Amino acid sequence: MTLNPFHDGLRIEPSPGAVALVIFGASGDLTKRKLLPAIYQLTRLHRLPPRLAVVGVANSPLGDEGFRKVMAESLEEFARVEGPDEVADSLARNLHYLEGDLTDADLYRRLESKLAEVSPGAGVLFYLAIPPSLGPAVTTHLGAVGLSREQDQGQWRRIIVEKPFGTDLASARSLNQLLHDHFDEEQIFRIDHYLGKETVQNLMVFRFANGMFEPIWNRRYIDHVQITAAETVGVEQRAGYYDSAGALRDMVQNHLMQLLTLIAMEPPVAFTAESVRDRKMDALRSVQPIINPATGEGLDAIVRAQYADGWVDGHVVPGYCDEPGVNKASTTETFVALKVQLDSWRWAGVPFYLRTAKRLPKRVTEIAIQFKRPPLQIFKQVSPTPVASNLLIINVQPDEGISLRFEAKLPSTRMQLAPVMMNFRYGSTFGGEVPEAYETLLLDALIGDPTLFARHDFVEASWALISPIHQAWAAHKATGIPTYEAGEWGPAEAHALINADGYRWRTQ
Ligand code: BG6
Repeated sequence: MTLNPFHDGLRIEPSPGAVALVIFGASGDLTKRKLLPAIYQLTRLHRLPPRLAVVGVANSPLGDEGFRKVMAESLEEFARVEGPDEVADSLARNLHYLEGDLTDADLYRRLESKLAEVSPGAGVLFYLAIPPSLGPAVTTHLGAVGLSREQDQGQWRRIIVEKPFGTDLASARSLNQLLHDHFDEEQIFRIDHYLGKETVQNLMVFRFANGMFEPIWNRRYIDHVQITAAETVGVEQRAGYYDSAGALRDMVQNHLMQLLTLIAMEPPVAFTAESVRDRKMDALRSVQPIINPATGEGLDAIVRAQYADGWVDGHVVPGYCDEPGVNKASTTETFVALKVQLDSWRWAGVPFYLRTAKRLPKRVTEIAIQFKRPPLQIFKQVSPTPVASNLLIINVQPDEGISLRFEAKLPSTRMQLAPVMMNFRYGSTFGGEVPEAYETLLLDALIGDPTLFARHDFVEASWALISPIHQAWAAHKATGIPTYEAGEWGPAEAHALINADGYRWRTQ
């Protein structure tokens, strides 16, 4: 059997016909940082359909040549392409640009003609790389001119929607409603770039392609779980968005909830989009409400804080309120730690601690699963050191891999125990390049595989857990917000949260 290079390792056979990728927000940061480098990389690896046209749409007066220049700059900066490169040249030839106001109906008629001209009969993927305020206008106009309607013979229509997907439950619902007015759910791809990360996909392989851990993956053997997404960066140039979002919206509602459900889900019956997403939904539905929406009770299970000035990576850094563009009296949280419990047969009584923040001492995203101690401490007479719990650490980034901590005997004539690590590292095991999340996700959307995208019900169920926290915080505004020194592992309150249960945060 000859392998189709585009099908190799993909779950869905790509359609061989012409494909057009329309990027709304073609002159923006996301296009430059992520999308163009991803398209380039996929082209270089021969993963894209051969007849791919990219149509950039934005308000700036770039023209085809200007857009090609944006691509050249983007590749130089973010894909490390220096000097002549045939792949970049061939990609540039397939790049087109359409200038216009995204809220103007006429632009969409011109887009229709442009697509007929550069890629007749193509399947079309629309990418909303635009501020959320423009999403409704673009969706409505696409629907109004009929560009969302699928046609026969490979003329499919799909739309990728970037985060933030709403700012609370009500806005997420209306966004879903608006999308469903014009697109079927199968056509909608809500991106969460964490799902495209290799290590996050590997979570499913680790759990469901190995029989060894599944029997102990439950409340009988697992003591508790810690999920951490720590960043050293501050708000950077994104105060306009971040100051009204905060860490809970920015990271917990989407990325951390996705990680939580991948750890907690039951095995799907098959590796299909619906089966995987159904099981993740079951897990999400089993999460106990963090805040009681009626009484506002539950705030003691969640800590928020904001970074003050301090030292990170050997540099003095300003406090959050002194960052450019941030309101000096802002109470936006840059740190969140919370405890969640699941009402499920598998997880009843096992606490999950979630933590994310900016300006911590180290960039690390990991899931640490701590197992229960052995039922009998038979070495306590001979070994002065207490037995540590077994720990499974899934390192999402930056040092991608999986480690297992267990007890070993120290070589000596005496009986002495010490914890040791068994390590699997992506870099040393596989070498080579690890694909960027956007490469995987863009390719999946082009072939129509939604497994790694957030379904409408997941987004809403996640907001249903998160929105009451915002409401409770709003009701307690007068109490302000604790701070933590930049470069430290968060405020004392976060340590108290987990210490109260007899545990400690892993400080990596
Ligand atoms: C984004 C958030 O979704 O994820 C950012 O908006 C955050 O604030 C980023 O920095 C983290 O992503 P990664 O891939 O660096 O862990």
